[in-house]
Amino acid sequence: MKNVVQVKNLTKEYKTIRAIDDLSFEVKEGEILGLLGPNGSGKSTTINCILSLLNFSKGSIQVFGKEMQPNAYDIKEKIGVVFQEVAVFDELTVIENIDYFCGLYVKDKALRNQYVEDAIQLVGLEDFKKFYPKQLSGGLLRRLNIACGVAHKPKLIILDEPTVAVDPQSRNNILDGIKTLRNQGATIIYTTHYMEEVEILCDRVIILDKGKIIASGTTDELKSLAKLEEKVTVEVLDLEEKYMREISAFKNVEDVSYCDGVLCITYTKGKNNLVELMDYLKKERISYNKIFSERPTLNDVFLELTGKELRD
Ligand SMILES: Nc1ncnc2c1ncn2[C@@H]1O[C@H](COP(=O)(O)OP(=O)(O)O)[C@@H](O)[C@H]1O
Ligand SMILES: [Mg+2]
Repeated sequence: MKNVVQVKNLTKEYKTIRAIDDLSFEVKEGEILGLLGPNGSGKSTTINCILSLLNFSKGSIQVFGKEMQPNAYDIKEKIGVVFQEVAVFDELTVIENIDYFCGLYVKDKALRNQYVEDAIQLVGLEDFKKFYPKQLSGGLLRRLNIACGVAHKPKLIILDEPTVAVDPQSRNNILDGIKTLRNQGATIIYTTHYMEEVEILCDRVIILDKGKIIASGTTDELKSLAKLEEKVTVEVLDLEEKYMREISAFKNVEDVSYCDGVLCITYTKGKNNLVELMDYLKKERISYNKIFSERPTLNDVFLELTGKELRD
């Protein structure tokens, strides 16, 4: 597969801070690459370097096989960007805003009308075409921001935290829209600090911390880095101490805790752990309410690798 973006040994310093530290990665044609990291980890800086909006002290960036430059307009017209901050014109309606941004690249009026309609449909703003930005909720405004960035059907789409502080309905709409764009052939870079989004959206993930890559791979590959492999939770009233001790001695058990009627067991390896536990509870005549098993989340992986939580 071709590399649409190739970042090599990128280092970017603001006066006293090294925001990006010898970063190298590539984005393959047709994939959704997730850049996942807490606030301040360098996601926006990386994107602004890729777009040549920031200069950097070391490294090189190629986009569509060519060196990226501030004046590389032939490359830039094939890129759609959705910045972290909403940037639309308050005095233009929804449809006029999208038409304006699309018009920067698509001069043919008939073709542009079609593209604008496609963008409105993609983000589900059909009922709000004549609204002004100030009349839209936060979630709808973000959807407009996305429509403006992608209406000209760019081959590479870069979205910087497009779902921060949006309602669940808009979030689902945005994530579905991004999948649609990928299915239509676009290559996508998606930054977020929400690990749940990366899990449902991205083909490949790079986890950033302090401007460095601390892990990368598919979600499954990243999860296999975790020492912990399974978490079992059981709702059970009044569990005696001796049962806790016996469960601690089970095969593969890493840790057992019991708090407010909830028993939590973590296992280093998984397979039949749940069945074994259920057999044991039955044998000991311990009645329980809910019982369920979970795999580790990307947050667990981040916690193991950095010693801190990804969540904010
Ligand atoms: N214009 C700037 N001047 C100085 N420091 C900055 C500037 N922009 C970002 N930084 C710093 O660079 C680091 C990375 O920031 P950023 O790329 O915005 O992270 P993220 O997008 O992951 O939240 C942070 O420590 C941030 O404070
Ligand atoms: Mg940012």
